[in-house]
Amino acid sequence: MGKADNINYESSLKLYNRAKKVITGGVSRNTIFRRPHPFYVAQAKGSYVTDIDGNTRIDFANNMASLIHGHSHPVIVDAVTEQMQNGTAYTLGSEVEVEFGELLVERNKEFEKIRFVNSGTEAVMSMIKAARAYTGNPKIAKAEGAYHGTYDFAEISQIAEPHNWGDINQPNSVPVTYGTPESVKQDVVVFPYNDIKRTLNLLEANKDELACVLIDPVSHRVGMYPIEEEFLVAIYNWTRKNKVLLVFDEVVTYRVTYSGAQHLYPVKPDMTALGKIIGGGFPVGAIAGDAEIMSVFDPTQKIIKQPHSGTFSANPVTMIAGKTAMQLYDRQAVDDINKMAEIAKHQIREAIQLAHVPVSITGAGSMFRFHFRYKQPRNYRETYQSPEERKVIVDLLDYLFIHENLILINTFACMFATTIKQAEVDRLTQSMYNGLKKYKAAILQFAK
Ligand SMILES: Cc1ncc(COP(=O)(O)O)c(C=O)c1O
Repeated sequence: MGKADNINYESSLKLYNRAKKVITGGVSRNTIFRRPHPFYVAQAKGSYVTDIDGNTRIDFANNMASLIHGHSHPVIVDAVTEQMQNGTAYTLGSEVEVEFGELLVERNKEFEKIRFVNSGTEAVMSMIKAARAYTGNPKIAKAEGAYHGTYDFAEISQIAEPHNWGDINQPNSVPVTYGTPESVKQDVVVFPYNDIKRTLNLLEANKDELACVLIDPVSHRVGMYPIEEEFLVAIYNWTRKNKVLLVFDEVVTYRVTYSGAQHLYPVKPDMTALGKIIGGGFPVGAIAGDAEIMSVFDPTQKIIKQPHSGTFSANPVTMIAGKTAMQLYDRQAVDDINKMAEIAKHQIREAIQLAHVPVSITGAGSMFRFHFRYKQPRNYRETYQSPEERKVIVDLLDYLFIHENLILINTFACMFATTIKQAEVDRLTQSMYNGLKKYKAAILQFAK
């Protein structure tokens, strides 16, 4: 890349060189690091993002699935602007927090009570701590490969690899961060997604110490393959029998139906962590669920089992943005975006056939992910990309970014916004075809 490619990115390069002097690695979130350097935004509107060098791209990543209405939606911008005239954060409550709570509780009968925080990581962390506070048990169980943010316990085995993931009957607890205490590893039971027998064996072996089983119903890093109903029901029934909580991470998947991916299944989680789209483009998280369990947060109880605060929790700017975004994300909008994603998948499957490449698509609702696989991968070990395969994916994503002007999620996934219409889907299809043809030989090398 560079001048030879006739692509101008001098301004981004200059800014990156400045950034490196003051920000570790030049970025505050590794997600935005790209080869050869991050690109910086001048303007973003709807589904189009223009960088400071004047390149305009269609955005299929939408800030890692958090912008359900694309960039700068005019109704959200107006609502936020009006709120800002009245202050951005107080050491007092605000009516909009209550209104937004009412809206979400009305959306899901499972949400008897709710609390707002500032990120998905914080929501998952608070939910796990609430499960421990309620049950008095220390351990959690989570799926191998699943991403749940960066809380020590939640991130175990998120990037397990063949050399350290261990026996499938008893997967190792593999820490992500150097220095993670042994005790953290010991308190996380790692199970293989969509594998009933092995998972129930593992739960059974730890039943007296488990506080909760943590499930993402369409886990992105596990492969974005929707959890199989039989597997989920088996876990649900096991938790009911053993008085262990079933808690969902719907930070990403809440978009899948009007009331989250949980409404695709005949189970009722005890608590759910939310984030991303419910912030309307601002930092957010929430924990929602059973009133009795959630009472561990309650400051009016004689014993507050989980004292819980947060300087910017439920700040009125996030609350008004989130409330407005979720009002706009009504049943019709959910239907429309899901249909648009269906059209995209259909068209791209045709492109895959035309290009004669072994690529499968997983996902649900308005999100989907591509794999160099003949069949959809059902769990993390089937999804796992070796460093060599990963390099081809990064090359292909760079090609789509630089030459086709598309922004995809770095796992090779798309998260739609309601602003994506047929014209954008056609561009995506054509570009995918071009990219798959270009990298066909490399893709064939990794097809399983
Ligand atoms: C399933 C899931 N849970 C939790 C998180 C953490 O959310 P946040 O980045 O807002 O901390 C993410 C973020 O991508 C996620 O995908």
